[in-house]
Amino acid sequence: MTELEAIKSRHSVRQYKEDAIPEEIVKILQDEIDIINKEQGFNFQLVTNDPNAFTGFFAHYGNFTGVRNYIAIIAKKDKDILAGYYTEKLVLEIQALGLNSCICASSISKSKALATVGKDEKFYLGVCFGYGVKQGVDHKNKPIESLYEIESGEAPEWFMKGMECALLAPTAINQQKFKIIYKADGKCKAISKFGPCSKLDLGIVMYHFEIGAGKENVIWE
Ligand SMILES: Cc1cc2nc3c(=O)[nH]c(=O)nc-3n(C[C@H](O)[C@H](O)[C@H](O)COP(=O)(O)O)c2cc1C
Repeated sequence: MTELEAIKSRHSVRQYKEDAIPEEIVKILQDEIDIINKEQGFNFQLVTNDPNAFTGFFAHYGNFTGVRNYIAIIAKKDKDILAGYYTEKLVLEIQALGLNSCICASSISKSKALATVGKDEKFYLGVCFGYGVKQGVDHKNKPIESLYEIESGEAPEWFMKGMECALLAPTAINQQKFKIIYKADGKCKAISKFGPCSKLDLGIVMYHFEIGAGKENVIWE
């Protein structure tokens, strides 16, 4: 499955089957996390077979069941956009491996999670994953016109393809508080409006946009 196909088929899934994840799949994810941690200086941690991190009040409220696997998104403070960007890279990898996932800011109990947070680090998110009971559903979207701006003239076709993928990105409480601007000089600028996790969202949205637009076309301001 390509990343584009993963974008199109991914939805948040909160109920999981008991099935264990095969070791070779865990290894693929662990290798990917090791690369990200090395390149970015992050401290993302993969946890399998822990039934406790998604049993707090907010997990119950969100109707999470059967969660036993998750990635703790831990990195230095003030890295929200990059942490979001690499979170989504992993989410799409998870989807491409035939699994389901849900990014969680509040539904993971960060105190119960089996992850260690170093000095100057922040526990941004948990990404739970596994074999979903169902595949999830399409989220509602804001009108695409309200999520981009063209500074002058017309945007190239690749920009609109990027926007179509940006629209499919997961955002906290589906808030879609972002805007992508096609600048007069041909560069792109992504901005987030005020909202919970909106900078993490922005990194996620930027990852999607690049996949749709083609990485070679996008120069971020
Ligand atoms: C940064 C971030 C934090 C999120 N936190 C939670 C959460 O704590 N609990 C939850 O049930 N869903 C959470 N979600 C999932 C969103 O509710 C979901 O992505 C959104 O409703 C869009 O639906 P979709 O992912 O199926 O496209 C979060 C998503 C993002 C991007």
